[in-house]
Amino acid sequence: MILSGMPEEVTIVGEVLPFDEKIELENWKDKHVSIKDYLDYHRKSIEELEEFWGSVAKELEWFKPWEKVLEEGDHPYVYKWFKGGKINLSYLALDRHVKSWRKNKLAYIWEGEPVNEKGEPKEVKKLTYHELWQMVNRVSHILKNFGLKKGDKIAIYLPMIPELPIFMLAASRLGIIFTVIFSGFTAENLSSRMNDLGAKLLITVDGFYRRGKVINLKEIADKALTLSPQIEKVVVVKRLNLKVNMVEGRDYWLNDLLDKVPYSANAEPELLESEYPLYVLFTSGTTGKPKGIIHDNGGYATLLHATMKWVFDIKDEDIYFCTADIGWVTGHSYIVYGPLIEGATILMYEGTPDYPAPDRWWSMIERYGVTIFYTTPTAVRMLMRFGDEYVKKHDLSSLRLIHSVGEPINPSAWRWLFDVIGEKRCPVGSTWWMTETGGILISHLPGKALIPLKPGTNGLPIFGVDADVVDDNGNSVPLGKKGYLVIKKPWPGMPSAPTGMLGDPERYRKVYFERFPGKGYFLCSDYAVKDKDEYIWVAGRADEVLKVSGHRIGTYELESVLVSHKAVTEAAVAGKPDPIKGEVPIAYVVLKQGFEANSKLIEELKRWVREKHGPVSVPESIFFVNKLPKTRSGKIMRRLIKAFTSGASLGDVSTLEDEAAVEEVKGAYEELMKSMKASK
Ligand code: WTA
Repeated sequence: MILSGMPEEVTIVGEVLPFDEKIELENWKDKHVSIKDYLDYHRKSIEELEEFWGSVAKELEWFKPWEKVLEEGDHPYVYKWFKGGKINLSYLALDRHVKSWRKNKLAYIWEGEPVNEKGEPKEVKKLTYHELWQMVNRVSHILKNFGLKKGDKIAIYLPMIPELPIFMLAASRLGIIFTVIFSGFTAENLSSRMNDLGAKLLITVDGFYRRGKVINLKEIADKALTLSPQIEKVVVVKRLNLKVNMVEGRDYWLNDLLDKVPYSANAEPELLESEYPLYVLFTSGTTGKPKGIIHDNGGYATLLHATMKWVFDIKDEDIYFCTADIGWVTGHSYIVYGPLIEGATILMYEGTPDYPAPDRWWSMIERYGVTIFYTTPTAVRMLMRFGDEYVKKHDLSSLRLIHSVGEPINPSAWRWLFDVIGEKRCPVGSTWWMTETGGILISHLPGKALIPLKPGTNGLPIFGVDADVVDDNGNSVPLGKKGYLVIKKPWPGMPSAPTGMLGDPERYRKVYFERFPGKGYFLCSDYAVKDKDEYIWVAGRADEVLKVSGHRIGTYELESVLVSHKAVTEAAVAGKPDPIKGEVPIAYVVLKQGFEANSKLIEELKRWVREKHGPVSVPESIFFVNKLPKTRSGKIMRRLIKAFTSGASLGDVSTLEDEAAVEEVKGAYEELMKSMKASK
């Protein structure tokens, strides 16, 4: 990859980043520290990495203390954190609180999507720590009764209903390794993930509400099950009382199973090795199928504990609202394990922010007195469009802290969160992390040491995390220059034993550690800039991965779906900046002989992608081209297509292709332009 030709001025959805603007909050004065003090303490935490993380981990309850904080595992770069230690996240999240005064504290407040004529929610469920603990124990019994035990694998395909965290916690209680599949995914996605993990049991639901519509999830699961014959049993949650197909001897209603388990049923938590896998979560990469990232127990719990305290300043009196879906890593870490380990009260919502009106979240913040709000730039940009009136209808004075996640936040969206939602009272941060990192690694730390805010920055790396921005050779870039984001030292919460990533540990090493040989740097595949205060500003992916409304989509996967259509011989997908979604996919398609390029086929291909890969992935535009630009050796000139799609000039493009001559790139560019005109 060649970085030259990159503009130094960095923009997020067209807005220039304000590197020099600093904001301090009078009402957070006691948490403010100078940048210098922060950096000094940070440096120390990195120099004494093991001691530092050891002291954080000590704040958790371990069944058996670790012998060594950090050790390289059986494969290069697959580390073991807190080796020898025994722990259980279900115990940390539940039993510990049930034994304390928190027993009757609310763990979850859940709100269903439907509303009555007055716009009030029709369904609200409140679960105390005791009730949650009891339910998790009973569900653990159900899993055991199916013969499942430590090391077995299950798949959870559930929407945002309380049974989702309940099954996750029950599995982790017994050391059963689970994968959650986002409820917006298609049957193909579900099946390939179940197969890759080797799951024996699937948990799903009859249906749920999404923007006022009923989604029949069991129907989709049934389709997936025809492609996943190794699934022996299916547990179905009854959410809507829909009539669904139940296969005798395979499918069971959760209610019927629960009827047979007494309230007193107690399932002892397994004493799990710290590095034992907790879950596998599939995420898109540059090539091939989505990768199954493995997270462990001890390191993961330690990072979540640290970040809940430092980043979210979590306190017992808080009402904490994270708007993510548990199907993604943000929900795993910051709707389930993180806040539960801290004994927090968590608001969980089934539906969309604009149903029945664009003030649904603001109404919820007011009604429950939410104090901490964790959301996404796409949602903010979408809700901003409806104007401030929807916000002003509600009293949001309970809010004290706001963060965003999932993609870069443009300065105007940041300002809206800061001015209109937080009324200039709340620190607003943009927490950077990835599925692979397990938890937040770069963020402001209002709960520990708050440095001045800047609209849109990620801030400095958290303590104990050695993040940096480097050039092509792995050397730190001069301040103000763009480069690659890397993590230079291992951190707790990183992909873990036995292989980091499902399958081949060699692939894990190649994907994340090969870019800077011998250095041991973890490649995040993001571009970033470090400003003169050393703040990091992540500016988007540096690989073939798109972030569409915060969803991570591999262009390669999308291209494979397009090429699997009978009319398509070749396809290339690239991201185009979008004022709301951040980025949208655009597809360039070469047709097989005998197929006519027309608008009917465009609609057909969009429907195909929706069905095979999901609604988020549907290209905004599909262009028919005569041929795709390729290098002499036959590789598609991806960066040319990317630059072309995002409207960059040919000047930016000509230096981008490693193998092709400038003339060749220019020719390919012009040809692409010509065939675009022809396909209009
Ligand atoms: C992007 C989501 C800028 C980034 C937790 C990363 C961000 C990818 C931010 C991981 C942020 C996440 N600012 N970019 N605050 N947070 N990203 O695995 O490109 O779905 O590589 O994890 O999201 O996406 P993933």
